[in-house]
Amino acid sequence: LIQAGILGVGSYVPERILTNKELEQMVDTSDEWITTRTGIRERRIADPAVSTSDLAVRASRKALEHAGVKPEELDLIILTTCSKDMPLPAGACLVQTELGAPQAGAFDLEAGCSGFVYGLTIASQFIATGAMKRILVIGAEVLSRIINWQDRNTCVLFGDGAGAVVVGPVAPGEGILASKLSAEGAGWEHLYIPAGGAKMPADPVTVEKKLHYVHMNGKEVFRYATRVMEEESIHLIKAANLRLEDIDLLIPHQANIRIIEHAARKLKLPMEKVVVNLDRYGNTSSASIPLALDEAVKSGRVKAGDNIVMVAFGAGLTSGGIVLKW
Ligand code: ACO
Repeated sequence: LIQAGILGVGSYVPERILTNKELEQMVDTSDEWITTRTGIRERRIADPAVSTSDLAVRASRKALEHAGVKPEELDLIILTTCSKDMPLPAGACLVQTELGAPQAGAFDLEAGCSGFVYGLTIASQFIATGAMKRILVIGAEVLSRIINWQDRNTCVLFGDGAGAVVVGPVAPGEGILASKLSAEGAGWEHLYIPAGGAKMPADPVTVEKKLHYVHMNGKEVFRYATRVMEEESIHLIKAANLRLEDIDLLIPHQANIRIIEHAARKLKLPMEKVVVNLDRYGNTSSASIPLALDEAVKSGRVKAGDNIVMVAFGAGLTSGGIVLKW
């Protein structure tokens, strides 16, 4: 099998910043509540003129440039998102034509906030078999369009953004050392959008009832998250034949600082080894890990040979992770 790794990374966030203070004017909340319960201080909101595939294209161009790969060299584009432009077709097809990648297959992958680690794991399989050489994996979200701005339980948590990586063959011993995909479908109702699909098609009543927005049981998701972040990380580190002390950097899904600190404590990792940017972006779902990875790489925080653990959880309920030698 051929070893798969990340050849380049890029990200993009919209310019518009929405602060906790501004949210105080919109719902019954406070900067103090949001900061202490979640760690989030501000988030980015996409301009009405752009959508998820536009953010995806911007992040992808940067990842391709960083990798030194031309769009025409791409064999496959996987867009991981839970806020796709339209129910049909896949947003990956819009990205494919916009980038100019005529040789690439293109599809969307929906695994909630675990989407990016799912996508990266799938991409690595095509590289491993030699079937493909260059794959673009994107996590992009415009969550601001699928959340109810009158629901304080959810609207304070999420933000818009995109991150992308180019995946290809790397030297033996480098790149993706282990990966794991998990799901506990029994918990699907803890985080979902009831209407707008085949089960409950859009009609004036569903719109009136705001059933096209994210509905979340925060406590249940929190409980799931703290359990699986620890379990998945420990499993992955073992599967990669590493010890806890070999881990140089943890890049967790950015949902809540309390979930991240809990995972770090359980893994005995000091917070200096944990990448956190949710204070500036909130939860950007599929985009959160590639966005955090890009910032860590571009700021020099990631060094050649570092062992990186990426671990995520999300709607589904899903979880998963990847251990990567940079
Ligand atoms: N401002 C002020 N008060 C609030 C707010 C708010 N924005 N939101 C909730 N509250 C209130 C609640 O109504 C509740 O009031 P009550 O006691 O009178 O009923 C009180 O604050 C406490 O609520 P809890 O739910 O106990 O607060 P908790 O400390 O559990 O934090 C939170 C809630 C932040 C949502 C937490 O449960 C969490 O982070 N859960 C995980 C959510 C998550 O990560 N979701 C994304 C998954 S990824 C994906 O796939 C999209």
